[in-house]
Amino acid sequence: MVGTRHLGPSHHDLAGQEAAGLHVPVLLQPVLAFLNVRPDSTYLDGTVGGGGHAEAILSQSAPSGQLLGLDRDQEALAAARQRLAPFGQRALLRHGSYADLPELAQELIPVDGVLLDLGLSSRQLADPQRGFSFSQEGPLDMRFDPAEDSPTAADLVNTLSVKELTDILYRFGEERQARRIAEAIFRARPLRSTTELAQLVAGVARRTGHIHPATRTFQALRIAVNQELETLSAALPRIIELLAPGGRLVVISFHSLEDRIVKRFIRTESLDCICPPEIPVCTCNHRARLAVLTAKPVRPNTAEIEANPRSRSARLRAGKKI
Ligand SMILES: C[S@@+](CC[C@H](N)C(=O)[O-])C[C@H]1O[C@@H](n2cnc3c(N)ncnc32)[C@H](O)[C@@H]1O
Repeated sequence: MVGTRHLGPSHHDLAGQEAAGLHVPVLLQPVLAFLNVRPDSTYLDGTVGGGGHAEAILSQSAPSGQLLGLDRDQEALAAARQRLAPFGQRALLRHGSYADLPELAQELIPVDGVLLDLGLSSRQLADPQRGFSFSQEGPLDMRFDPAEDSPTAADLVNTLSVKELTDILYRFGEERQARRIAEAIFRARPLRSTTELAQLVAGVARRTGHIHPATRTFQALRIAVNQELETLSAALPRIIELLAPGGRLVVISFHSLEDRIVKRFIRTESLDCICPPEIPVCTCNHRARLAVLTAKPVRPNTAEIEANPRSRSARLRAGKKI
């Protein structure tokens, strides 16, 4: 599906930010527009990362707008803390999952807007020790929160059955060669490093299109390790409850699995009845809670993609609380 393309910041601005080691926020102008950022209002950034979007929201909501930023990654929070320091008490930062926003943002509720910019940041991808990148040698970790006592990608590849691995690669990576890759993993284990896994996959999987053969395997493992889709599905209904009437929900996703969840959610929440079409009289008592603001997903324009290739697959969807 081709969505609306928006003007982004100039190539020059983005190159400068990237060179300074900052995560470049994607679709920045559409985020500010769909959040309807105004002075003196309150926002939640559920995936604050390096604080790029948060910085712009705080600037535009001066002099007394407030933002609470959350991240599962303590290193991301440290970077955000530094970047948002000039805003003083207007910026609050907390460690946790956006699924727990109702509990973690209690004192600010109801809010005027919630932003989720899903997936991982350039900083996380660039750090070999985090294990997200198949092109740099590192441990097979992939947890957004490495301090959490939860299974790593190494735990999954070294303990799951061929069937379980196939399911993960197929469901979360949409990998057509899932079974072949899962069998190769099973035969080769234990696997310890990112490059070991990437080389193994490249050796057994036929290359399709321009992407590296291990791209889908790495995406699938990352989604499984962090339970990303379950978290998103469980969190969205809770997040609507946090919005004041007229408040905005803005979500940026980076692959079709996430985007499908967001699209269906916003569409369902915009309907007054969700009964199956064959039922003549409504029995569901469902009431619309959102107005759809993006009939089609908003996508970066060519200039933004050129300046920030990571933005290539970004899709933004937004809704407004009724
Ligand atoms: C694409 S980055 C966000 C970048 C940010 N918007 C900026 O402009 O700098 C996504 C961030 O979400 C975090 N994250 C992923 N899942 C999360 C969750 N369930 N709860 C909170 N943070 C999460 C990651 O650790 C990462 O830092």
